[in-house]
Amino acid sequence: MKPDATSAQPPLLEIRDLRTWFPVRRGVFSARAGWIKAVDGVSLALAPRETLGLVGESGCGKTTLARTVADLERAQGGAIRFKNEDLLHADAARRRALRRSIQMVFQDPYASLNPRMTVLDLVTEGLVEHGLLRGGRGDEAERLLGEVGLGPDAMLRYPFEFSGGQRQRICLARAMSVRPELLLCDEAVSALDVSVQAQALNLLMDLREKHALSLVFISHDLSVIKHVSDRVVVMYLGRVVEEGPVEAIMECPLHPYTQALISAVLIPGRKRGPRQILPGEIPSSASPPPGCHFHPRCPKAMARCRTEAPAERAVSGCRVRCHLYSGESHKQNIQ
Ligand SMILES: Nc1ncnc2c1ncn2[C@@H]1O[C@H](COP(=O)(O)OP(=O)(O)OP(=O)(O)O)[C@@H](O)[C@H]1O
Ligand SMILES: [Mg+2]
Repeated sequence: MKPDATSAQPPLLEIRDLRTWFPVRRGVFSARAGWIKAVDGVSLALAPRETLGLVGESGCGKTTLARTVADLERAQGGAIRFKNEDLLHADAARRRALRRSIQMVFQDPYASLNPRMTVLDLVTEGLVEHGLLRGGRGDEAERLLGEVGLGPDAMLRYPFEFSGGQRQRICLARAMSVRPELLLCDEAVSALDVSVQAQALNLLMDLREKHALSLVFISHDLSVIKHVSDRVVVMYLGRVVEEGPVEAIMECPLHPYTQALISAVLIPGRKRGPRQILPGEIPSSASPPPGCHFHPRCPKAMARCRTEAPAERAVSGCRVRCHLYSGESHKQNIQ
């Protein structure tokens, strides 16, 4: 069951015009030759207990956006407010405290677990670091492992002794140990095979319910996104191109990019229309096309798309950045 995420509540997380750029360095002296604009002017909000699905082709900036929220990348500009506190300008102690409430779960559970640490140490490390340990470490570890469906016999073993699905459970126990309010799941179940993936997803949904979590769920799998999300954000080359309730995005996408993404996959419960194949590759974030970033691949591109970046518009309960929905074109294109 999806959480009762009402838009009337103040947002838990609010991102405004966020920019996370990486310098491109060239030459012997590593002079800066430009920027990779991985996240370039992203704005979005997340209500308490809401799950936001984040989608878009490889390299569009999903991981960088999540890492910036988790304070693992430095933003160039913009604002991130968590429970109405400025995350980017808080002092070090406050950032550390806020970081505890925002935990990230990565795709590769093996890479995110120190192979030299026992499971006992792995799942209680955060508790010790944040001074949250109440009873003995063993008791806490047993409780946390129980929450993710692992027995106490796992405690003295090392990550390599577990399967991929079990390792992802250990990562979840580790993330949940510090009692977060927001989980950022970056392709958290994608590396698992289908049956294990379903179990991991169910576990995640149970934890979401039990602990009233908010989730940002990044996945290439649109059927999983449809299953878990309340709202969906579609990114293209560092920018949000469309955002709206999951049903609207899946049933009646507005942006030509979202239409192509959705037409390419079979989503349970959705009638499949003709498949749209986008020409070309996603361009580099270091040299994005002018105007609308999507125009070189867009089947509906018009002259103004080549020079003018579309502003965000509210259309049928969604937010969309596309010239098809501005002025006169809007009336013809809205469904
Ligand atoms: N630390 C970094 N230094 C330089 N460039 C980076 C860094 N991290 C990401 N990038 C670049 O930023 C852009 C966005 O990358 P990101 O990993 O956020 O995309 P993504 O949407 O998560 O892709 P995928 O679906 O493949 O995981 C890419 O062009 C990537 O090469
Ligand atoms: Mg990624």
